[in-house]
Amino acid sequence: MSDDTTKYLLTEDKIPTHWINIAPDLPGEPLPPLNPATKEPAGPEDFLGIFAEELIMQEVSQEPEIEIPEEVREVYKLWRPTPLYRARRLEKALDTPAHIYFKYEGVSPTGSHKPNTAVPQAFANAKAGIKKLTTETGAGQWGSSLAFACGLFDLECEVFMVGSSYDSKPYRRSMIETFGATVHRSPSDLTEAGRANAQHPTGSLGIAISEAVEIAAQSPEVNYALGSVLSHVILHQTIIGQESILQMEMAGEEPDTVIACFGGGSNFGGLTIPWLRRNIREGATTRFIAAEPAACPTLTKGEYAYDFGDTQGLTPMMPMYTLGHDFVPPPVHAGGLRYHGASPLISALVHGGMVEARSVAQNDTFAAGLQFARTEGIIPAPEPTHAISVAIAEAEAAKQAGEERVILFGLCGHGNFDMASYDAYLAGNLENLEFSQQEMDEAMAKLPDGVPAI
Ligand SMILES: Cc1ncc(COP(=O)(O)O)c(C=O)c1O
Repeated sequence: MSDDTTKYLLTEDKIPTHWINIAPDLPGEPLPPLNPATKEPAGPEDFLGIFAEELIMQEVSQEPEIEIPEEVREVYKLWRPTPLYRARRLEKALDTPAHIYFKYEGVSPTGSHKPNTAVPQAFANAKAGIKKLTTETGAGQWGSSLAFACGLFDLECEVFMVGSSYDSKPYRRSMIETFGATVHRSPSDLTEAGRANAQHPTGSLGIAISEAVEIAAQSPEVNYALGSVLSHVILHQTIIGQESILQMEMAGEEPDTVIACFGGGSNFGGLTIPWLRRNIREGATTRFIAAEPAACPTLTKGEYAYDFGDTQGLTPMMPMYTLGHDFVPPPVHAGGLRYHGASPLISALVHGGMVEARSVAQNDTFAAGLQFARTEGIIPAPEPTHAISVAIAEAEAAKQAGEERVILFGLCGHGNFDMASYDAYLAGNLENLEFSQQEMDEAMAKLPDGVPAI
């Protein structure tokens, strides 16, 4: 056996003690969210009806670090620290001088990074005396993670699952129910938002969010939980990047490029923010690439503007890249990336030129996923195949340039419940769904008016 290390493993005492908040390091004045009715800056009170106070305080915090509650770190021990791998067999197959590393979040109970935030969100709500959480889910990864976390803290959980994923990922639905939660196909006829969008049977994250928010707003004992986009969600995920810094030290290398897929921004922010803060504070020059679907190209084609987080306009308006809040993305298999908007924190970093974005066509992502599965032995979820595709392109560019670059990407989840998508690809039935200029023009015409330009 050679001395070559494949996995870089940390012991449980290395689980981070704090989350990293990038907000105070962002250049310029922070742009506030806006109240949807008054269009004035929204304060913490605008979120109180549906979020626990502790989470709202994290959302608006300007503290650079926030301590992780002991109870949450105790649960994190079930799967953290997660492994960092060197993808030696993929490197060999690509015949590249680049060194490729990936941080694997698929070892969590539900198979993705989503429990990293589901657990602290459920904990904060249970501590605040809340009895039930409602949520949306795109691929079913977030819904199953919140169902798992609610079970740990005796909370009920009700999930609105985007129609196209409900149909194509039935075992995610079973998983949500196994953890004790209730799940509805969205759009449903249980809410006004669902009934108003019955003409979009594939559903969208924007519609499912409207349904979940509507239910939460009806009772003081019910709150809503979001699996991405908001700053407290990005904050919780920064444990991924912090661990990866320690693991890259073990490997004796520094990545020059860090890549992750991008839906609302939580796994991307989680992996990159601890590295990115070194660029801002210490003058490091790491590149960051967000990989998104060509069918839902929020960062590469969207507008940087104030928009609603949901289809019905129930949420505060946020400064973000958007394709328009009522845009219903084509039903690509990477259901977790079918979101019209983007994290305001990551949007600011993209706008400020600190993060690059790239879009990838569906068939290219599955080709990359297959190459990865056949060399590294893990079948990736359709979402991170976007990151893998960009990582492979970067490794090929390194080969062309004859440079020994170091690439780190986020493998945020496994695809063991996504085999219908792989079946469709292997049968040659996957379409390369594109986003047309006409769709863009229509969506932009519906951006809220009377709000400040950014
Ligand atoms: C496996 C996986 N990756 C990525 C995403 C996209 O979300 P985010 O951009 O917040 O990481 C999702 C969302 O559901 C997901 O399930």
